[in-house]
Amino acid sequence: MPLDQTALLIELEPVVATNLDRHLSLAKEWFPHEFVPWSEGRTFDGVLGGEAWRPEDSKLPEVAKTALIVNLLTEDNLPSYHHEIASLFGRDGAWGTWVHRWTAEEGRHGIAIRDYLTVTRGVDPVELERARMEHMQSGYVNVNGHEMLHSIAYVALQELATRISHRNTGKATGDPVAEQMLARVAADENLHMMFYRNILTAAFELAPDQAMRAVANVTANFQMPGANIEGFGRKAVLIALAGIYDLRQHRDEVLQPVLRQWNVWDRTDLRDDGERARDELSARMTELETQAARFEERRAARTKRH
Ligand SMILES: [Fe+2]
Ligand SMILES: [Fe+2]
Repeated sequence: MPLDQTALLIELEPVVATNLDRHLSLAKEWFPHEFVPWSEGRTFDGVLGGEAWRPEDSKLPEVAKTALIVNLLTEDNLPSYHHEIASLFGRDGAWGTWVHRWTAEEGRHGIAIRDYLTVTRGVDPVELERARMEHMQSGYVNVNGHEMLHSIAYVALQELATRISHRNTGKATGDPVAEQMLARVAADENLHMMFYRNILTAAFELAPDQAMRAVANVTANFQMPGANIEGFGRKAVLIALAGIYDLRQHRDEVLQPVLRQWNVWDRTDLRDDGERARDELSARMTELETQAARFEERRAARTKRH
C-alpha cells in the first residue's frame, strides 16, 4: 500500500527534526551588509537628484549581468516558494520550523545580491525593479505541488543547481567582491541541498517505489524555478554558453552525485512501478548525455568561429 501524503509527513517528521538540528549546527550566521562595497555607491537620479544609471557605470561582463539578474529574480520570488512549501509541509513541528528557517535564509540571498548590484551600479536599477515586479506578479506554481516526495526530490536538485549557478556567476563577474558574496550564498544553497537530499534518502528507506517514481518524474521534466522569467530561454542559452549552468553540469554535477547518494542504481528493494521508474530514469540520463555532448560540440564550434 503506498503511503499517503499525511502518512509520509508523519513518518518523515523525526528525520526532518534531526536534519533541522544538523542544519542549525552547520549554518553560520552571516550578514549581507558585510559583503557589499558601500563606499562605491552614489545617489541615483529621481527623488534625491543624483546621477542616473548609465550602461558604462557597470563593470560587469554582459553574461554576468544576465546571470545575476536571473539569479536575483529567482531569489526574489521567495514569497511564492514559501507559499508552496508551507502549503505542502505545513507550519507545525519540525516541518514548520524548517519552512520558516529556510525562508529567512533565502531572503538573505536576494538582499545581498540586490545591494551589491545597486551599490556597484552593476545593472540598470529601473529595469531590474520592473523585471522584479513582472516576475513576482506571475508568481510561481510548483508543478509537483500535490505530491511531497516529488517536491523534495525537486528542491534537492534545484538547490544544488542554484549553488553551481551562483558559484559560476561569481567567477563570471571578474569581481572578487561579487565572487566572495556569491560563494557565501552558494554555501547556503549547499546546506539546503543536503537537508532535502537527506529527507529523500529517508523516504527511499520508507517507501522506495514512491521515492523512485518521484525522482524519475522530476528528472524527466526538471526546470529551474526562474524558468518563467521574461526571456528566460535566451538568457539560459547565454548562461549555458558561458559555462555558468549548462546541460553537462546539470547531468554530471547535479543529477549524478545526488542519484548516487540515493543509491538509485543499486537498490534491491524496488517493485513494479519502482523498477519502471528506474528504467525511465536511466533512459533519461542517457538522453541527457546525448544532449549534453551535442551542446558541448556546438559550443566548441561556436568558440572556434569567434
Ligand atoms: Fe537562495
Ligand atoms: Fe536555497
